Amino acid sequence: MGRPRLLPLLLLLVQTCIPASWSLQCLLCGRTGKCQVEECARGQDLCRTTTLRIWEGGEELEVVERGCAHPEKSNRTMSYRTGTQIITLTEALCATNLCNGPSPGRTSTFPRTRNRYLECVSCASSDLSCERGWDQSLQCRSPTEQCVEVVTHRSLEGSPRDEHHTRGCGNLPGCPGPTGFHNHHTFHFLQCCNTTKCNGGSVVELQNLALNGLQCYSCEGNSTHGCSADETSLTACQGPMNQCLEATGTNGLGNPIYTVRGCATPSWCQSLHVAEAFSLTHLNVSCCTGTGCNNPLRDHQPRMGGAPRPGPAHLSLTTTLLITARLWGGTLLWT
Ligand SMILES: *[C@@H]1O[C@H](CO)[C@@H](O)[C@H](O)[C@H]1NC(C)=O
Ligand SMILES: *[C@@H]1O[C@H](CO)[C@@H](O)[C@H](O)[C@H]1NC(C)=O
Ligand SMILES: *[C@@H]1O[C@H](CO)[C@@H](O)[C@H](O)[C@H]1NC(C)=O
Ligand SMILES: *[C@@H]1O[C@H](CO)[C@@H](O)[C@H](O)[C@H]1NC(C)=O
Repeated sequence: MGRPRLLPLLLLLVQTCIPASWSLQCLLCGRTGKCQVEECARGQDLCRTTTLRIWEGGEELEVVERGCAHPEKSNRTMSYRTGTQIITLTEALCATNLCNGPSPGRTSTFPRTRNRYLECVSCASSDLSCERGWDQSLQCRSPTEQCVEVVTHRSLEGSPRDEHHTRGCGNLPGCPGPTGFHNHHTFHFLQCCNTTKCNGGSVVELQNLALNGLQCYSCEGNSTHGCSADETSLTACQGPMNQCLEATGTNGLGNPIYTVRGCATPSWCQSLHVAEAFSLTHLNVSCCTGTGCNNPLRDHQPRMGGAPRPGPAHLSLTTTLLITARLWGGTLLWT
């Protein structure tokens, strides 16, 4: 009579074990195309497919990455011209086990003569076309895309090289904006518009944005490197960045607590943009509106949601191909 009693016991065990260990499974595929199944870390509730395509003279190069992603991510696209190339980045998200597999019958050829959607100005810093005012035009390939202007600038040593300025077509979180952040080391800015070539004119430079009267503390790093008392000082806020931001998180490089302070637009005061621009997880972001209100002195050690663990979720990619990683959301570098 042992068996019949064992079965319910086993079921009970299984039932009580599953919720504790349940996590989403995504396909994890690197640039080489080799794939495996990845158990997503806690807090990684989506699977992503990130695709970089480069078209040049009828030739197409495609690089696809798959893996887990944090739950704030959303589908996005962006295209721009640099030199004689058109670069397209897309990221699609889904939320069921192994849903980020390759879909059969996908066509990836560049649809040159399709519907005519919005026409935008396009340029990039990689060929200095933005800096020199050599605008080209780019036809958007989806009705959901707008004309975008993106600035990503980070002067901290060790930051990956990015396109400083990019203009083109895109469907990006933060549109229509303007949404942005600046401190002593970093300037991020995004704005989108939806009429023909509305993203033309001179590119947005931080030094051309008027002071708005607010001053916020500025630093990036941990309590000994980057955000120590010596390295934290006030910066004068500019343009629409009229909030003082303070964010703490983990950066996956073994630094348990990484802090960012500076001036931000209200739309930047949420974890999505901070996570993507600084490759941080387990974030606590807050904003306030009074000079010096993001004062480091009233800090306590923030408590993180769960033990920081740089598990399989932190995919390290080469940055050479993914020059637009940070404007794209940094999460091409780290998920
Ligand atoms: C995201 O993209 C995928 C694949 O293209 C699509 O199936 C899904 O419906 C999109 N999700 C949203 C919210 O648009
Ligand atoms: C164009 O942008 C404006 C301002 O962001 C917005 O109100 C409007 O709905 C957009 N129109 C379309 C067709 O997307
Ligand atoms: C801060 O980061 C640096 C490297 O960036 C590291 O050497 C140092 O140990 C860190 N300090 C703390 C308190 O984590
Ligand atoms: C997040 O930061 C704010 C301001 O620094 C603080 O009041 C709050 O307790 C923090 N929350 C967590 C969960 O650490």
